Amino acid sequence: MYALAFIAASASVALAQSTSLCEQYATYSSGSYVINNNLWGEGSGSGSQCTYVTDASDSGVAWKTTWNWSGGDSSVKSYANSQYLFDKRLVSEVNSIDTSVEWSYDNTDINADVSYDLFTAADINHVTYSGDYELMVWLAKYGPAQPIGSQIDTATIAGTSWQVWYGGSTQQTYSFVASSPITSWSGDINDFFEYLVSSQGFPASSQYLINMQFGTEPFTGGETTFSVDQWSASVN
Ligand SMILES: *[C@@H]1O[C@H](CO)[C@@H](O)[C@H](O)[C@H]1NC(C)=O
Repeated sequence: MYALAFIAASASVALAQSTSLCEQYATYSSGSYVINNNLWGEGSGSGSQCTYVTDASDSGVAWKTTWNWSGGDSSVKSYANSQYLFDKRLVSEVNSIDTSVEWSYDNTDINADVSYDLFTAADINHVTYSGDYELMVWLAKYGPAQPIGSQIDTATIAGTSWQVWYGGSTQQTYSFVASSPITSWSGDINDFFEYLVSSQGFPASSQYLINMQFGTEPFTGGETTFSVDQWSASVN
């Protein structure tokens, strides 16, 4: 009994000591999952943000991020996220991108989105923080936050109706926006690529899927805490 209790205690102490990610681009890795305190747009306003790892295992991760941003109302400050690592492959050779998530925001008087973010590129060695194409799935938007470009369609995918937005130039972004917050979601993101192939001419046989992440993009507001109680993903 004593030995078991000691092992359990030291395991949780080890996690607790490495859970606070407050530095720009601080990361925590566990198997195929990475949690990133990505504050890429912090210079467009002022404020702060820390991300906390609450659980990480082969079957998924749980984490929180607390932020408070002001200024630069139309600029994204950050994308704290959980990332799933996989073998890059052509989108046409992907069978499914299964994922599930449960999340919440404790203060929704904010200007922010909650979104999946995937990148594809013709070059398999393209940097993974951008692509030729970006696919975003906005499970929620709060306040005036809106995707890049303009709305081009409405589509029912994975049982939900989404606004479809398109914009960008060197990186072309397709964003699917839910009409009201979806705080618990389980689905196959490949369904969105199949819509893009059949309805928007997306070149799946020449684009590699290079990155998959889930997180939140604050513009302004706070203080608030975004909690991801559970997130898992797999690319098959
Ligand atoms: C959040 O930022 C605002 C504006 O800078 C500030 O007035 C407020 O005190 C901050 N809130 C917290 C909890 O730090």
